[in-house]
Amino acid sequence: MKPLNILVLHGPNLNLLGTREPKTYGSESLDDINQSLQALGLGLNADVQCFQSNHEGALVDAIHQARLDDVDGIIINPAAYTHTSIALRDALLAVQIPFIEVHLSNVHAREAFRHTSRLADIASGVIAGFGSHSYHLALRGLIQHNKEYQ
Ligand code: DQA
Repeated sequence: MKPLNILVLHGPNLNLLGTREPKTYGSESLDDINQSLQALGLGLNADVQCFQSNHEGALVDAIHQARLDDVDGIIINPAAYTHTSIALRDALLAVQIPFIEVHLSNVHAREAFRHTSRLADIASGVIAGFGSHSYHLALRGLIQHNKEYQ
């Protein structure tokens, strides 16, 4: 069977993982997370491509490109853009690719401004609070979702 084509998008400041507030975000680097996701993908017959940007427009462009590249599902940690970005919401609505919103930290146990998401109500699922394991759960969830709804 053809591998599923999965895109993982990381938003602003996530390039600093490992050194950024490790008590909140853990000690793994973004490269560590991407490599472990790609290894997990291999075992689950999923081809995992990863992209990080600190710029909203670059993330919007990557979402548009995902449709041209026949991406089957998106895992996105929109980071601070979670709470603000109508542009990311509109891009995800436009491409109509199933996606899962992911957070390392439990955003609901943090400041009130982190309790709202511009994306959650249009996501196939939301996973928060499991550190880097949130991404692994999302990959398993997206693969299962794809089997059930395609
Ligand atoms: C985050 C939570 C966001 O509120 C924050 O702005 C981030 C990271 C997380 O993964 O826990 O940058 O998305």
